[in-house]
Amino acid sequence: MNQKMVAPSILSADFANLEREIQAVTKAGADWIHVDVMDGHFVDNITMGPAVVRSLKKVSQIPLDVHLMIENPEKYIEAFAKAGSDYLTIHIETTKQPLELLNKIKSMGAKAGITLRPRTALSEIIPWLENVDLVLVMTVEPGFSGQSFMQEQVSKISELAKLRALKRLNFLIEVDGGINAQTAAQAREADVFVAGNFVFKNDYVQAIQTLKGIS
Ligand code: DX5
Ligand code: ZN
Repeated sequence: MNQKMVAPSILSADFANLEREIQAVTKAGADWIHVDVMDGHFVDNITMGPAVVRSLKKVSQIPLDVHLMIENPEKYIEAFAKAGSDYLTIHIETTKQPLELLNKIKSMGAKAGITLRPRTALSEIIPWLENVDLVLVMTVEPGFSGQSFMQEQVSKISELAKLRALKRLNFLIEVDGGINAQTAAQAREADVFVAGNFVFKNDYVQAIQTLKGIS
């Protein structure tokens, strides 16, 4: 059984000290840095843009996992890819041309991810599983850190794991929202745990190592 990967979400970090925060979680064993991009339209919150990603890239030794919660992603994919996103994930609700966007992400040298809001049916993304490197399952309504885990979303993770085996695909399954030691155990079929508050509001080493040890 492979060890789980952990992607701390810097949405819960100290924004005045992002370099120090990235170094601290990296030292604590983080595998990726999860970057939540919000535009105030697709979700209510506004966070960061390509300029911030470019700065983070300069100080991060580990991959940047960029989660786009924005309308019109086609306008911004190039900027986020050029800024140094290693994984770039789009919401299925934001585009009528997912295949074009996924191919564009890959042509820019990044890994392509797809995700969906909790109320969106998994069937919406199934046609694109052959075309992605990552599938992100949201276990909170996108927009804010610190919300409670939606347990009923776990079935999407199981279904994805089954489909991956059946179709002999090798995308990674990532889970995002309300992850802590208990909820990660429920979501243990995922490969990558995103965690905001659980990491940044606790001891980083303890939190990250706890998640990595889930089996
Ligand atoms: C929510 C974001 C999450 C969030 C996770 O829209 O996609 O990545 O920062 O934070 P926690 O782990 O605190 O729920
Ligand atoms: Zn996220």
